[in-house]
Amino acid sequence: MKARGGEKIHLAETLKRALKKTKVSAIGGLGDLDMIERIIAEGKADMVALGRALIADLDLPRKAWSGESRDILLPVSVASSA
Ligand SMILES: Cc1cc2nc3c(=O)[nH]c(=O)nc-3n(C[C@H](O)[C@H](O)[C@H](O)COP(=O)(O)O)c2cc1C
Repeated sequence: MKARGGEKIHLAETLKRALKKTKVSAIGGLGDLDMIERIIAEGKADMVALGRALIADLDLPRKAWSGESRDILLPVSVASSA
């Protein structure tokens, strides 16, 4: 399944560049683990916050941690069949 979302990452990225002593979280449309890893790896934010992704699948953190990411249920704000 192809994922979308994360349209507001640039807001966190801008804040992170401006705030040197403050940790910045990205939020909004996140849930795709590859995207989340890229956000952190590329230094766009220090952490991410998940809302609807955790409503869609409360088991997301455990599945991600145990390598069951293919079984994660994504919210419509993130999931796309396109
Ligand atoms: C059920 C629900 C209720 C929410 N209520 C509020 C709210 O009262 N005030 C607010 O600023 N944002 C509210 N939000 C927005 C979240 O704080 C968050 O910004 C938004 O869900 C984006 O993150 P997500 O795409 O990971 O869900 C709500 C979101 C959900 C799903």
